Amino acid sequence: MLLCVPGSLRAGAVNRKLLAEAARLYGGPSQVADLRLPLYDGDLEDAEGIPEGVQTLAAQIAAAEAVAISTPEYNQALSGVLKNALDWVSRAPGAPWRGKPVAIMSAAAGRSGGARATYSLRLAMTPFRPRLSTGPEVLLAAASRQFDEDGRLTDARALKTLTEAMEILRAEADA
Ligand SMILES: Cc1cc2nc3c(=O)[nH]c(=O)nc-3n(C[C@H](O)[C@H](O)[C@H](O)COP(=O)(O)O)c2cc1C
Repeated sequence: MLLCVPGSLRAGAVNRKLLAEAARLYGGPSQVADLRLPLYDGDLEDAEGIPEGVQTLAAQIAAAEAVAISTPEYNQALSGVLKNALDWVSRAPGAPWRGKPVAIMSAAAGRSGGARATYSLRLAMTPFRPRLSTGPEVLLAAASRQFDEDGRLTDARALKTLTEAMEILRAEADA
């Protein structure tokens, strides 16, 4: 199972669309993670423990053969929604990211296709010691114009890059 982690909560998010294409190209079953979690709060954790949604997310990561994360670029960095989820999962028992094959990508409005967001996400993932793919970089610029009505990527080069990235992720998962 491929776990898709969108860093945007928006139903129509381009990062969700990119992950749907990633899952199609990866092949086989996939799941989309729900990052609608409370903001990390040590008092909440002390009073109620790890929220159910965080436990679910941690279990999904642990069970996945591979994970694809797509983050929007917010002011040149990863989304707060995604960072919040990473912080919560780090508080859950076990180390679900450890050794997990992970591909990072971004769809953004700007011309850099979220390059800075993916770098900051790469840094944010470092403490968890996943097996992060190093390339090819999937950076979708002017992302709202890159999908047709069926949610398919229209740009041949973007499709080729994503196909290669998913082949590499699958090979990592099978290794
Ligand atoms: C708070 C905020 C900051 C943003 N900063 C950037 C940015 O630094 N670079 C960029 O390319 N786009 C930026 N954008 C535009 C997003 O790339 C665009 O809204 C994108 O569609 C968000 O992804 P989503 O459709 O998956 O929600 C920003 C949008 C918001 C709301």
